[in-house]
Amino acid sequence: MQFNIINIPKIDSTNSYAQQLIEKGNLHEGDVIFTSNQEMGRGQGDNYWESEPGSNLALSLILEPKLVPASYQFVLTQIVSLAIVNLLKEYIITDDVKVKWPNDIYVNDNKIAGILFQNFVKGNQIEHSIVGIGININQKQFFSSAPNPVSMIHHIQDSVNINDLLNKLLDKIGVAYEEYKRGDNFRKLKSAYLRNLYRYNEWHVFSENKVSFNGKIVDVDEYGRLMVEIESGEVRKFMFKEIEFEI
Ligand code: BTN
Repeated sequence: MQFNIINIPKIDSTNSYAQQLIEKGNLHEGDVIFTSNQEMGRGQGDNYWESEPGSNLALSLILEPKLVPASYQFVLTQIVSLAIVNLLKEYIITDDVKVKWPNDIYVNDNKIAGILFQNFVKGNQIEHSIVGIGININQKQFFSSAPNPVSMIHHIQDSVNINDLLNKLLDKIGVAYEEYKRGDNFRKLKSAYLRNLYRYNEWHVFSENKVSFNGKIVDVDEYGRLMVEIESGEVRKFMFKEIEFEI
């Protein structure tokens, strides 16, 4: 897969900029909007994504995953979140790097990276996907209200070269995406996702509408719903935002 990196020194949000360009028909698969200084980074929902200038990775990658039916868009989540986990594991050796369902990247119990997907769907086809990725790299202190941010610098000795990391990340995403297009890794992706899933197959406290319960994550389905066994033995399915992880 070919990538075309468009470096914008300062920008409000790479995702918002990508959205404007897509609406004008000016971005295509493999284009990457990259910045070292993102001033109004967007997180999931209405959240703000904090990123100190020059310290972290912030980018939006454009995909045109026309072969992925919109109802199965979770496969993109799996490809991208696993690429980030695999990349971080090359650097962070002594701590646990995991995907917290659906697409937060955690080291132990802290969030090191986040992904913001914006899909442009026509019928059951994804025409364009903006894959916004933020990875905390060299930022030591955080000032926003994000509950548990952490950076690579907290887990490794040296500072990390952001360009190297960008190239390695794109390479990993590209390889997995091409494999998927060839139909090679559908099953492999799901089992790798489960193997790298935060709190998989362990009993923990969750909550639904602020009511706590004990549960064990046992699977994710093809729509990306989290499947959680509860104490009665019943397995329940949750969409994003329907279930919270408790400490
Ligand atoms: C989350 O809330 O976990 C998602 C965070 C996504 C942040 C990235 S940084 C690059 C891209 N541009 C944005 O405005 N947001 C995403």
